[in-house]
Amino acid sequence: MQSLDFSAYRNIVVLTGAGVSAASGIQPFRGQGGLWKDINPFVVADVSVLETNPLSIWQLFGKLRTQLETAQPNAAHLTLAKLEAQLSASQKFTLITQNIDGLHQRAGSLNVIELHGNVNYTRCSNHTCSLTSYLDKYSHQELLPICQLCNSPLRLDIVLFGEQIPVKQEWLVKQSLRDCDLFIAIGTSGTVWPAANFVRSAHYVGARTIFINLEPMKPQNPYFQEEYLGLAEELLPLLFNYEY
Ligand code: APR
Repeated sequence: MQSLDFSAYRNIVVLTGAGVSAASGIQPFRGQGGLWKDINPFVVADVSVLETNPLSIWQLFGKLRTQLETAQPNAAHLTLAKLEAQLSASQKFTLITQNIDGLHQRAGSLNVIELHGNVNYTRCSNHTCSLTSYLDKYSHQELLPICQLCNSPLRLDIVLFGEQIPVKQEWLVKQSLRDCDLFIAIGTSGTVWPAANFVRSAHYVGARTIFINLEPMKPQNPYFQEEYLGLAEELLPLLFNYEY
């Protein structure tokens, strides 16, 4: 397999999804063994559940915190961090992730846009409360945690179905895609918006577009020009010519 030559690109944008963290033991959402195989995310992970059964959101995602105490970044995360570190000062690198596990940062990636938030952080569910989002090690599986400032339920700082992507993240993504010349999506089913549409913007501005995943995207997305099928943790070190 011929490795990719990154030297010709000025603005590289990488989009990652759950497949990148699979080798770290984090369960993906779709595909084989996916979390959404037997449950409907539009029912159990919809923003409306914060009103009807907020503890169930903690029970669904909070246990990830316990897993993350022992999970380690894998070769896919490490390869992306190494790429960013080795680019020249004139090259821009943006890593947009749909993952909420924080493993890219733990691997050393610096310019990371967390589109769907970070499961390690807790915030207040009351939009007018002044509590700032904080790092929280507890998974709150038994008892709904309550905000000490306003008595509202606390929630995970993640984006649920039916919620908007935070405006700052949305703006940073738009900025990175505006003059992107290489776009690579890795380990994502490409089914969840807005991320599923980023390749279209990248293609529109003339970027080379590459899809790396265990299985082909269904339905196929015509804006990807190249496809590499396999495990991200195996393909990335080969394609990026890094050894682990
Ligand atoms: N290497 C590469 N690809 C893999 C690997 C692996 N080791 N393991 C699984 N995959 C592929 C699966 O085949 C699947 O196509 O990764 C993809 C993961 O897709 P999803 O589980 O749908 O994850 P993602 O695209 O990140 O989901 C988007 O949906 O509900 C949500 O909010 C959640 O951020 C998530 C969003």
